[in-house]
Amino acid sequence: MSKAAITGIHGYVPDYVLTNAELERMVDTNDEWITSRTGIKERRILKGEGLGSSHMGAKAVAGLLEKTNTKPEEVDLLICATTTPDYVFPCTANLICDMVGIRNIGSFDIQAACSGFLYALTIGTQFIEAGRYKKVIVVGADKMSAITNYTDRTTCILFGDGAGAVMLEPNDEGFGVLDSIIKSDGTGQHHLFQKAGGSRYPPTHETVEKRWHYVYQDGPSVFKFAVKNMADVSAEIMERNHLTGADVAWLVPHQANKRIIDATAHRMGIETDKVMININKYGNTTAATIPLCLFDYESQLKKGDNLVLAAFGGGFTWGAAYVKWAY
Ligand code: UT7
Repeated sequence: MSKAAITGIHGYVPDYVLTNAELERMVDTNDEWITSRTGIKERRILKGEGLGSSHMGAKAVAGLLEKTNTKPEEVDLLICATTTPDYVFPCTANLICDMVGIRNIGSFDIQAACSGFLYALTIGTQFIEAGRYKKVIVVGADKMSAITNYTDRTTCILFGDGAGAVMLEPNDEGFGVLDSIIKSDGTGQHHLFQKAGGSRYPPTHETVEKRWHYVYQDGPSVFKFAVKNMADVSAEIMERNHLTGADVAWLVPHQANKRIIDATAHRMGIETDKVMININKYGNTTAATIPLCLFDYESQLKKGDNLVLAAFGGGFTWGAAYVKWAY
């Protein structure tokens, strides 16, 4: 059975830089608190009327097609992980395909909050392993600024906007996504969620006044679950693939909080210089954090490197993937 190898990666972040200094002028916060508690220095914000997550996803996919010399008509499937779709429907994957000229193939969204990219990667991998498709694009794109309350200091310092995309292709030489684990526990639903805008609480004047269309997060509770579950699932995937910390070239963690990342790396026995970090530049871009890390570190990756991807997010959802880098 062929494995699904990542054969290309591209990322996109918008130009506008929202710094900790600017946030200090918006809410009662300070650079020292944000930096020491989260590791974030700045994040990117998508400005411009009528631009949603698809705008950034399409930029990432267009760059990916160019880099991998792929014509739109060669793509077999596109999956987009997002928690901030442009519309309730149609899905953002359909819009991205339209923007980059991909027609007449299947495309759909996956919603698993900050674990969305790992979920979408796991799903995309199945189509390649089954022999059904030869080129699958997996995108993570989130415009978190659309659902962030910039009067709430506990959440507005965390999030940013961005997108990343990978190409998956069959590989028979032992490279690619060799294993993955995805998990969920819906009992965490009220610790991290957007209350209104779905079918349970459709938009009304009241839901807007109550600010139910923004991210709500009980930070300390989520922190505890995130530290435990991201570390547990990373250890689990290492154990079942007989990997020690020394075998892992890179940990590619979801970028929610530098302290959660450090705890996960410590549990895995991985030195800090083998951990991909860009939370300082982008904050938490939800489904885009992992592909944006791969994009930023692409030039440092070597064929055969063992990567462990790990994420935790709303739902709760979490998971890990073991990837042997293919180029
Ligand atoms: O990506 C999806 C999953 N999400 C996560 O994994 C996020 C998990 N949670 C976290 O990363 C952390 O809980 C936060 C970064 C959100 C918060 O850090 P914390 O160390 O858990 O802080 P806290 O919420 O316990 O707040 C500590 C203090 C409080 O003040 P008092 O009650 O001690 O006086 C807060 O009011 O810090 C205060 N505080 C702030 N102060 C300055 C909260 N936000 C801020 C702020 N600036 N922005």
